[in-house]
Amino acid sequence: MAAVTCNSLTVSLADNETALEGLLRAGVDVPNSCRGGACQSCLVRAVEGTPPPASQAGLKDALKAQGFFLACICRPTADLSIALASDAVPRVPARVRSVERLTADVARLTLHCDAPFDYRPGQFANVVRSDGLSRPYSIASLHGDEPYIEMHVRKVPGGQMSGWIYDDAADGHELELRGPVGECFYTPGKPHQPLLLVGTGTGLAPLYAIARDALRQGHAGPIHLYHGAIDEAGLYMVREMQSLAANHQNLHYTACVKSPREPLAAPSADLRIGELEQIVLSDLGSARGWRCFLCGNPQFVASLRKKLFLAGTAMKEIHSDAFLMRPTA
Ligand SMILES: Cc1cc2nc3c(=O)[nH]c(=O)nc-3n(C[C@H](O)[C@H](O)[C@H](O)COP(=O)(O)OP(=O)(O)OC[C@H]3O[C@@H](n4cnc5c(N)ncnc54)[C@H](O)[C@@H]3O)c2cc1C
Ligand code: FES
Repeated sequence: MAAVTCNSLTVSLADNETALEGLLRAGVDVPNSCRGGACQSCLVRAVEGTPPPASQAGLKDALKAQGFFLACICRPTADLSIALASDAVPRVPARVRSVERLTADVARLTLHCDAPFDYRPGQFANVVRSDGLSRPYSIASLHGDEPYIEMHVRKVPGGQMSGWIYDDAADGHELELRGPVGECFYTPGKPHQPLLLVGTGTGLAPLYAIARDALRQGHAGPIHLYHGAIDEAGLYMVREMQSLAANHQNLHYTACVKSPREPLAAPSADLRIGELEQIVLSDLGSARGWRCFLCGNPQFVASLRKKLFLAGTAMKEIHSDAFLMRPTA
């Protein structure tokens, strides 16, 4: 049985227990959110011993070389001594600038940063409240052009952070941003490559940033953005997206709902009915040569990622952020 030591406290891990679970059980306050290796808020560093390679999945090579790993996916087979990694990721103080309720459960949060925050549109950052609660949200704003950070937050029933942001956060509330993190962003170099952007729910946030970033960098190839929801109530920023597409010949926006709340009076080119995955795959035909960005529901992202690969997209051309939530206790 392996043991983990942190701040002179040694915890023996139970069978199949992760380093994060053991440390939390012993009262060590390790920041965490998704508990599935997606948000990097539980980043720690091995000062003695070697973390299992699987616990370093998704980290940059420089961090891996320094012994950083994710405590929530670390099941060590030998003893480890660790340090909390509070300085490994940039931390920037921020304040709430506005909370705009776009629908019954989606809010557009904008933040002022009190120090430079360097990010690529589409990456995510961990938003940390003054009591230490931390959750990752994707960045919808355009670095350089927009002097604030924009995020789209869906209020999850009983959700600590999303409920607070939607109902209680007010102008001036102090927060911290940790990051940026993630590889879901536009890189120039292939200006004529077709781009496919598909998101469910607030998965629109990073796609809105990536599409606008590609356009401002002169991307000339077609950009197809699909936004999916269960019904019309789950869609938001529809007019804004339609107007963005109307102003850019190569941007095509399609909203999709699984089952409309009311029968549609007339078919609309902008609103498609059915399973988002099937709509995307049948529109696409061969997916060879495309660059794809997939964001939102984790099961949806994993399934479409696999199907796009099978339809011909190179794995290195598929970028995704699965919005993994903390599992129910
Ligand atoms: C990389 C990444 C990027 C993300 N980006 C965004 C983003 O841009 N916008 C956004 O809104 N979210 C995003 N998320 C999710 C976000 O980080 C939080 O997990 C989410 O807001 C819930 O946090 P909470 O504190 O409100 O809920 P918590 O207090 O953590 O609790 C949520 C509880 O609800 C349960 N639950 C899960 N799904 C549902 C559901 N559909 N209905 C009811 N209960 C459910 C969970 O299991 C959990 O027990 C992202 C996640 C990741 C990993
Ligand atoms: S990566 Fe460990 S809590 Fe999210």
